[in-house]
Amino acid sequence: MSRTIVALPGDGIGKTVLPESIRVLNAVGFDAEYVHGDIGWDFWCSEGNALPQRTVDLLKEHKIGLFGAITSKPKDAALKELDPQLRDKGFVYFSPIVSLRQIFNLDKCIRPCRSFKGNPLNFIIRTNDGFREPLVNAVIFRQNTEGLYGGVEWTNPPKQVRDAFETHPKMARFKNVPGEDLAISTRIMTRNGCRRIIEAAFEYAHKFGYKNVTICEKPNVLRETSGMMVNEAKIISKKYLGIDLWDTNIDAQMMWLTKNPEIYGVIVAENMFGDIISDGFAGLIGGLGFACSANIGDEVSVFEPTHGSAPKYQELNPSIVNPIAMILSACMMLDHIGEIEKAEKIRKAIEMVIEEGKVKTYDMMKLRGGPDVFKFGACTTQEMTDAIISKL
Ligand code: NAI
Ligand code: MG
Repeated sequence: MSRTIVALPGDGIGKTVLPESIRVLNAVGFDAEYVHGDIGWDFWCSEGNALPQRTVDLLKEHKIGLFGAITSKPKDAALKELDPQLRDKGFVYFSPIVSLRQIFNLDKCIRPCRSFKGNPLNFIIRTNDGFREPLVNAVIFRQNTEGLYGGVEWTNPPKQVRDAFETHPKMARFKNVPGEDLAISTRIMTRNGCRRIIEAAFEYAHKFGYKNVTICEKPNVLRETSGMMVNEAKIISKKYLGIDLWDTNIDAQMMWLTKNPEIYGVIVAENMFGDIISDGFAGLIGGLGFACSANIGDEVSVFEPTHGSAPKYQELNPSIVNPIAMILSACMMLDHIGEIEKAEKIRKAIEMVIEEGKVKTYDMMKLRGGPDVFKFGACTTQEMTDAIISKL
């Protein structure tokens, strides 16, 4: 059965890497039609909305989005670039990714971090007699809609908010701080949100044979929110015999991941902690050129590399950026819709190219990005894709 996929290139190198992933999907024989969805900076500037309603409608209809990357800028910079005819009409810039997550309740973010054998960017650990290269195989489950990134925050909070906060004894020490000198960002978490991400993590561990699920929070300090996450995990873990429940503190976890990253399987965390821990693990397996992700909701799901639009490379022709993160994100899309064999085939092809070591993008050669990287033997974005396709 042919699928329809909403292709959302976005901005900058999103426009470069998305078509590369579609080339690979075609080459592996995935039968799909791609409909283009407008998203990103251009649409903010010209329409005052980086995520036009027509794109939301396309996703509602077709359920699956394959997304490149977008550019986003702070509020004031955004207003300056808005079409002059739209200024003073009340348009406010919102990140289209955050909007997507909220509109479709894409509350589960999955970020696998797996090292490829032979990747020159793999993390190594110094030992007494040399070094070792731990093979990382961790999958981060990040709660994607609540927590510190939930967006409930104020500078100079309104009086009712301040009054409400002051019912808490710990607010006493802020009592005399002038409103304009007081900023509050909340960390709101729901039991349902915690349960959904933890359930998803355990299900994944069960399905793919992981032996441990780690809750990475900070319950000794964030007693209420992290506490809820840890408590729910204890309850849910009872249903999964044979999978150990570990819990670590986010700060300690960042240290341990440079000591024994290979022991971790599935990791669960709140929005911001998940953001931090997934970047930490991504650094061990090659960085942004390799970091893929899925945003999963009950109806709609969107697959995207972790990296942004890398504007400084968008004009380079030929392009130098690594398409692997985007292609691995496309593999996650295939997994999600049950085309697991095709996903495995593509991952195997990527493995072969990396292990062979003949074709490398500039990041894999630890070069500074720029138009001259080819002189040093770096391949182009398209050549990397070609190499992967040739192994299929
Ligand atoms: P970025 O991820 O776009 O780039 C940071 C650096 O990482 C690049 O300069 C480049 O050296 C490297 N890099 C990124 N992708 C690469 C690839 N595929 N291959 C090789 N090297 C790669 O992050 P930055 O520069 O902080 O942000 C640029 C824009 O992207 C901003 O407007 C930001 O808001 C946006 N952004 C969007 C995201 C998204 O669409 N999901 C995520 C992160 C940032
Ligand atoms: Mg991030």
